[in-house]
Amino acid sequence: MNRLDELRRRHQAAEEGGGPERRARQHQAGKLSARERIELLLDEGSFEEVDKLVTHRCRDFGMEEQVIPGDGFITGYGRIDGRLVYVFAQDFTVLGGSLSEANAQKICKIMDLALKTGAPVIGLNDSGGARIQEGVMSLAGYADIFLRNTLASGVVPQISAIMGPCAGGAVYSPAITDFTFMVERTSYMFVTGPDVIKTVTHEDVTKEKLGGPMTHNSVSGVGHFIAANDEECLRMVRELLGYLPQNNREDPPRRACADPADRMDTALDSLVPQESNLPYDIKDVIYRVVDGGEFLEVHEHWAKNIVVGFARMDGRPVGIVANQPAFLAGCLDINSSVKGARFVRFCDAFNIPLVTFEDVPGFLPGTEQEFGGIIRHGAKLLYAFAEATVPKVTVITRKAYGGAYCVMGSKHIRTDVNLAWPTAEIAVMGPEGAVNIVYRRELAAANDGDAARRQKIEEFRERFANPFVAAERGYIDDVIEPRETRPRVIRALRMLENKVDTMPRKKHGNIPL
Ligand code: HXC
Repeated sequence: MNRLDELRRRHQAAEEGGGPERRARQHQAGKLSARERIELLLDEGSFEEVDKLVTHRCRDFGMEEQVIPGDGFITGYGRIDGRLVYVFAQDFTVLGGSLSEANAQKICKIMDLALKTGAPVIGLNDSGGARIQEGVMSLAGYADIFLRNTLASGVVPQISAIMGPCAGGAVYSPAITDFTFMVERTSYMFVTGPDVIKTVTHEDVTKEKLGGPMTHNSVSGVGHFIAANDEECLRMVRELLGYLPQNNREDPPRRACADPADRMDTALDSLVPQESNLPYDIKDVIYRVVDGGEFLEVHEHWAKNIVVGFARMDGRPVGIVANQPAFLAGCLDINSSVKGARFVRFCDAFNIPLVTFEDVPGFLPGTEQEFGGIIRHGAKLLYAFAEATVPKVTVITRKAYGGAYCVMGSKHIRTDVNLAWPTAEIAVMGPEGAVNIVYRRELAAANDGDAARRQKIEEFRERFANPFVAAERGYIDDVIEPRETRPRVIRALRMLENKVDTMPRKKHGNIPL
């Protein structure tokens, strides 16, 4: 056979993967093939494959009969909206997409290139895990990837799409990356599967309940996004990348913006209910303030008492962090603290300014929270906001009570611009709680305790439950009319465009994990 024929034969074998029968099974399962996924993910015709001819070197268990060029992993680079990205996709039709020594090296090769050239890495996961026939060589391959995931963390964005099985130690690569997408019905992630769990703990649990997309998107917080199918998942990955810089030395990409920077919105003036205990949806504020009402929410289904996600202001990407009064009254608890902290740190690592909307009655009380370590977890959010050196703007819409006031991007932890609506209540605690403590003895001794309490509460509300005490101290830079929020935040961000702030020299901090 001449060399050209030989080359074509090898290419064709690589493209066929596990063959038509297995590919049909993949489609029947509602999954696209690895190559179809890459096609949809990248700009048309932009994919350059690397290591298409690599094969495994295992000669045990009849593996010498199962040598397929590419070895079940497709790796390479291409473009999304014209910007360079690196991608790997596991082909489940080749030995279950299992990870061999050879294809681990393929992933490492593109990750090394990504670090050197400063571009994101996207992994499309669909794999039975470590290739059983290769034993420790496969484990070594995983560990090599974990190391690169860690070294690349905070340098280039890393995105994982789980589009099939992802089990055992294999889950730890996505876990170290920045964002994990999961696809309904076809994807699952767990460290130990249902059978092992049954043997060890005698629990009966399905794959779906144990590690399906909704479990990880609403219960564990391992998943950040959920997609109805492969197509939607890949479209969402593209959308997310539109908010991110290529690496930690670049600013995020600016887009032309049709939404006027000076647009006022009078509906904001009456959005906060008169009665301070009534809920409202903070997402209504976000939609009305950001460019074109476009908001890509991260962790939409988990820890809903805090809302985080990406939007644009004046065409520039921002990270939004907002307490959600419509869920648990917007209290901070363990999960919302962890969710907020992780997002703040991502934005800070990648030069994405933070805009915080604050309406928080405090930390959620209870033994469950205290025993679960709310002190440690709440500290993560505080630490994350305090260490962030990107431009930071906070708008207090209503409550800013107690420790939560300090945590949620207060002036004291180097937020650059702090604004408050006239409805803001900034104090150590709400008027009822304050009066019960400060006047406990006096009220117990009073003839008409209830009337006296009501009067004291009113006095407290007048004196403290407002933005003006904080504004008099300069902790709030200005009290603004809600309708002005968009222009004011945009002007603040423009002013902060060239902000430089630093950290003391250190190897790394010790965030309370
Ligand atoms: C080699 C594998 C494989 C593996 C699947 N295959 N997993 N080959 N190593 N890990 C092969 C199968 O032999 C089969 O080959 C083909 O892939 C499809 O697998 P099926 O079982 O037919 O598919 P399905 O019924 O959809 O089940 C998928 C599955 C199951 C749930 C993933 O295959 C499975 O349980 N596999 C083993 C998972 C596992 O225990 N992996 C090790 C995890 S520990 P043919 O030729 O028939 O098509 C781990 C450690 C990582 O990964 C450590 C990092 C530190």
